[in-house]
Amino acid sequence: MPPLLDVRGVNVHFGGNHALRDVDLQVEAGRITGLIGPNGAGKTTTFNVITGLQETTGGRVTLDGDDLTNLPPHKRARKGIARTFQRLEVFGSQTAYENILTSAEIHRGWARDGSDPRAVAEEILHRVGIRAVAGDRVDAMPTGLARLVELGRALAQKPRVLLLDEPASGLDDAESEAFADLLLELAATGTAILMVEHDVALVMKVCEWIHVLDFGAILAVGTAADIQQNQLVLDAYLGAA
Ligand SMILES: Nc1ncnc2c1ncn2[C@@H]1O[C@H](COP(=O)(O)OP(=O)(O)OP(=O)(O)O)[C@@H](O)[C@H]1O
Ligand SMILES: [Mg+2]
Repeated sequence: MPPLLDVRGVNVHFGGNHALRDVDLQVEAGRITGLIGPNGAGKTTTFNVITGLQETTGGRVTLDGDDLTNLPPHKRARKGIARTFQRLEVFGSQTAYENILTSAEIHRGWARDGSDPRAVAEEILHRVGIRAVAGDRVDAMPTGLARLVELGRALAQKPRVLLLDEPASGLDDAESEAFADLLLELAATGTAILMVEHDVALVMKVCEWIHVLDFGAILAVGTAADIQQNQLVLDAYLGAA
């Protein structure tokens, strides 16, 4: 079966900085795929390319065979691509519930799927495990919880592909373990997840397939076991930790 999300031959230049070099990356439905690598390797830039926020100097992005390359971000979102940001993007003055509700209302506005945004928001609060803080303002929350609110906002768009940029930063060990279970549950419902994360233990635990980016190029692709034994990856990233 072809991959759900297929990134082929993507190049990005920032002036003289060749930030992405012929990047290929595939993401499958129902699976958690990891994208790891050192700071500045190009992981967030890859997310920006997939979501349409970053122009390229060549390459294609297709979703289920549908070419998204020339679509603006909101149209890609409507096709089923949702993301969270490395630098949190939430409405700080709103509560967790209001943040997710707003996203569910926007989704219903264009999807016209007859969904009840309040019911959707309630269900997501429960699923993400933040019902206890539903009424709290997000700017008063610890970062880890605020990141879960942002994840809830992304889920309210009912994505086929979910891109998570360092979702576990700010989580303690117990929260990180609960988060791993949540990711596995989401994938089990068929959602494709692509996760950028520096918490290597989490990546190795949940990712069936891992891409390693270094200096803008894919250095290695494989299972957690392959990646942990790959000498190039050990030299460039894992061994340095
Ligand atoms: N908007 C921009 N303008 C100019 N250069 C940029 C821009 N965004 C990123 N870069 C550069 O592109 C390269 C890749 O950055 P990117 O943020 O994608 O890395 P990353 O892998 O996400 O790193 P980190 O793990 O630190 O988040 C870096 O050299 C960075 O300085
Ligand atoms: Mg980044």
